Amino acid sequence: MAKNGTVSASVIKRLPRYYRFLGELMRNGVDRISSRELSEMMKLTASQIRQDLNNFGGFGQQGYGYRVRELHSEIGHILGVDRQFKTILIGAGNLGRAIATHINFTTRGCRLIGIFDREPALEGKQVGELNVISTKKLEEFCAKNKPQLAVLCIPKANTQQIADRLVSLGIKAFWNFSHYDLSIDYDNIVVENVHLGDSLLTLTYGANEVIPDK
Ligand code: NAI
Repeated sequence: MAKNGTVSASVIKRLPRYYRFLGELMRNGVDRISSRELSEMMKLTASQIRQDLNNFGGFGQQGYGYRVRELHSEIGHILGVDRQFKTILIGAGNLGRAIATHINFTTRGCRLIGIFDREPALEGKQVGELNVISTKKLEEFCAKNKPQLAVLCIPKANTQQIADRLVSLGIKAFWNFSHYDLSIDYDNIVVENVHLGDSLLTLTYGANEVIPDK
């Protein structure tokens, strides 16, 4: 656990990246790493790394570095990857199918157990290892399987309505790709809105700085 139980949002934002780099080191057989080496790999300052990782117990030792496996496991635990949250995906269109088949949910603490769409023609179609289920069967499915997390890959206009319905069915967390900034007025519901377009705009901002405008 984090030493004092409260970790700043900016540190939390960096944790997935630490987790990914430490995972790679582990797979390459590296047992320990100094903050200087990690900082070179991650293009962060060594002091930033020490500050960040100090939040999570005494894995770093002067002159020894960090124990990669322990730190990876601790950060994974904080990120919830050892939970295997039962996850459903709504909207089996282009984006939904790409996410269902290209994202490794299990290594990120989630288990995709159902894919839903309201389009009758898609019912029964195979996506990855699952078959698309009609949204008419959401209530029955949720009562039986008790999913906790939902990925939303549906158009903006339908998002709030489906989110309300899912909350009433017990969903506690949303990975929301629809172009609708979901803000759910319930307690204890978490939302991660993802906008690939915003990421592109961050890039164009940078490009605007470095590429001369003739
Ligand atoms: P698509 O049209 O291929 O698929 C949308 C699917 O959602 C369809 O199969 C449709 O039947 C289903 N659907 C619509 N309303 C539903 C509901 N209430 N319940 C269940 N299923 C429902 O569209 P695509 O390309 O997959 O994109 C999906 C959404 O994601 C779009 O609104 C798009 O703008 C957005 N998007 C967001 C991105 C991001 O970075 N956040 C990137 C790309 C797309």
